[in-house]
Amino acid sequence: MASFNLLLLPGDGIGPEVMAEVERVVAWLKQNGICDVETETDLVGGCAYDDHGEAVSDATIEKALKADAVMLGAVGGPKWDGVAFDKRPEAGLLRLRKDLNLFANLRPAICYPALADASSLKRDIVEGLDIMIVRELTGGVYFGEPKAITELGNGQKRAVDTQVYDTFEIERIAHVAFDLARKRRNLVHSAEKRNVMVSGVLWNEVVNEVHAADYSDVELQHILADACAMQLVRAPKQFDVILTDNLFGDMLSDQAAMLTGSLGMLPSASLGPEDADGKRRAMYEPVHGSAPDIAGNGLANPIATIASFAMALRYSFDQADAADRLEAAIAGVLDADLRTADIMQEGKSQVSTAAMGEAIVAEMQKSES
Ligand code: IPM
Ligand code: MG
Repeated sequence: MASFNLLLLPGDGIGPEVMAEVERVVAWLKQNGICDVETETDLVGGCAYDDHGEAVSDATIEKALKADAVMLGAVGGPKWDGVAFDKRPEAGLLRLRKDLNLFANLRPAICYPALADASSLKRDIVEGLDIMIVRELTGGVYFGEPKAITELGNGQKRAVDTQVYDTFEIERIAHVAFDLARKRRNLVHSAEKRNVMVSGVLWNEVVNEVHAADYSDVELQHILADACAMQLVRAPKQFDVILTDNLFGDMLSDQAAMLTGSLGMLPSASLGPEDADGKRRAMYEPVHGSAPDIAGNGLANPIATIASFAMALRYSFDQADAADRLEAAIAGVLDADLRTADIMQEGKSQVSTAAMGEAIVAEMQKSES
């Protein structure tokens, strides 16, 4: 049986609850001789800050660098609102992304047929939706320097964030988007703001160059990021792969998530460059946040996190069959009308976080026997 090691970083809020359901799936895979995922659990985010004063420790970063893959739950919450900016829970997540060089963030937004009515948009607009957002994750305004608030000496302050992109950063994320499009519907929309930002001008230029050099078989469309937001709610099915920077990708992926019915449904994979053996560092996490308002009540939807683990099976562990089965099990429980609170609708059965995890495992068991 193939064996892998997975570092679990449940984090804050609902993170530990949804991660427990991944552990349930991991245990089932092992019991059934499918694959042996050895897990180790560590702290990140507010809980790490409370424990040792940093949102992620050097020792945790070391473990993450050594693991075959990392799974993150969620970080943050009002409890840490007063914490210094560089020690905030989110800083731990950003450091993990940066130190592991996870420049490519894949955020698939799929509308399960059973959930088409849970979306705030009309069924015919979202039914069959299958979008892949490819978000650049280690550059742009999240990391650009200078980044500071300074006193101007006249009672005013000035805050500066810097949007920076180098050619190589745009090239490598464009390659990821075009390669993915080839396995999908062969269409890439590249979203930037070249009408007002020079980083958008360079983004557009470099994407065109990569396209002309290696991907003339893939259809490329350029779209301004604001227009992309508008088209995502007007006619989302026109999109296949959306290629965009760190900040626009953050916003567009939350928006795309809601098309699928709930933020609780959207998984993500963050990948580093391929090494000489064709392996990539990777971290998998739900797109949703820590939802402190519902934490600890069994109300959280574990599907985004379980689907993120399915992505780990596919992209890091090369277990495509297990990933297919897990994804089919998720669709199966939704078809069987089980719903967590966030996707609850009249006539369906509301279940807790743990009951949803149990049902997904039971669905996998059905396909086993
Ligand atoms: C996300 C989140 C993070 C981000 C936060 C928690 C730092 O919103 O992964 O989309 O802005 O990237
Ligand atoms: Mg976000």
